[in-house]
Amino acid sequence: MHKILSAVFLAPEIKRFEVEAPKIALKRKPGQFVIIRIDDEGERIPLTIADSDASKGTVTIIVQGIGKTTKQLNALGAGEFISDVVGPLGRPSHIENFGTAISIGGGVGAAIAYPTAVALKEAGNHTISIIGGRSRDFVILEDEMRRACDEVFVTTDDGSYGRRGFVTGQLKELIATRRIDFVLAVGPIPMMSAVADVTRDIGIPTVVSLNPVMIDGTGMCGGCRATVGARTVFVCVEGPEFNAHEVDFSTLDRRNKTYWVQERQALAEHRCHLEDALTEKLQETR
Ligand code: NAD
Ligand code: FES
Repeated sequence: MHKILSAVFLAPEIKRFEVEAPKIALKRKPGQFVIIRIDDEGERIPLTIADSDASKGTVTIIVQGIGKTTKQLNALGAGEFISDVVGPLGRPSHIENFGTAISIGGGVGAAIAYPTAVALKEAGNHTISIIGGRSRDFVILEDEMRRACDEVFVTTDDGSYGRRGFVTGQLKELIATRRIDFVLAVGPIPMMSAVADVTRDIGIPTVVSLNPVMIDGTGMCGGCRATVGARTVFVCVEGPEFNAHEVDFSTLDRRNKTYWVQERQALAEHRCHLEDALTEKLQETR
């Protein structure tokens, strides 16, 4: 069992947890992830390690409550427990001094881009971060990125904060005005695909972090298959980071929607249980 030491909402449905996991905290490197189960019956969910503190024996994970399990997880608070936290899994980010490196985090993807941005800075890069959100409320980790990077640009789709538009607008502007040697992009699939389209023809090495359906996380089940450079890869052991210019994003998007109907059903049933529990509670207090 892993105790939750702190649990704080960063944005609507996006919560940061600090969880006891001393062995993982000692070993983990930027880009790696854990698979967690809330309880013995629970679904396994992969979550990138946003940060860690080896002296406290904790890892930080940032969770977007979109399905039944992530919503259940986001209902937990400090002092409660998560049954399993397995990791660190996956290959660490490839870090070197590229020169000028841009780290792009779209929505909750900023949580994954953050540890790699820190490592890129430590490796001597001039590090630029672009953080994008639907609106001001969905921009996360801006203060952390400002502490870690040389420059930070914020974009919002509705223009409520920072530059109006997608992260790709800001990226194009930066590329037009200076030499960029490396780009990391993490976020929704259409975003990562759009970033790859911007950098492909001008030949800027670009890496994306993929989040396909995962089950075991150890290369056994094949659930996390993706197509990269016409090769089938198992993202959990060969990734999660890949050359963006070689990723087949449309197949990845299709595969990620395989269990969409079941996920909707599970979420609807979960809501019914919550409503029943709430009605019962209200009746008890009357
Ligand atoms: P979102 O849809 O709010 O988008 C976040 C930002 O991405 C936008 O503000 C915009 O700047 C950019 N963006 C979105 N669509 C774009 C497009 N077509 N072109 C250019 N830029 C675009 O993001 P969200 O709701 O936080 O993310 C949800 C999705 O991200 C989920 O589907 C989730 O599975 C995925 N996700 C991916 C990873 C990963 O490792 N790649 C990690 C966590 C979540
Ligand atoms: Fe099973 Fe990757 S999650 S092989």
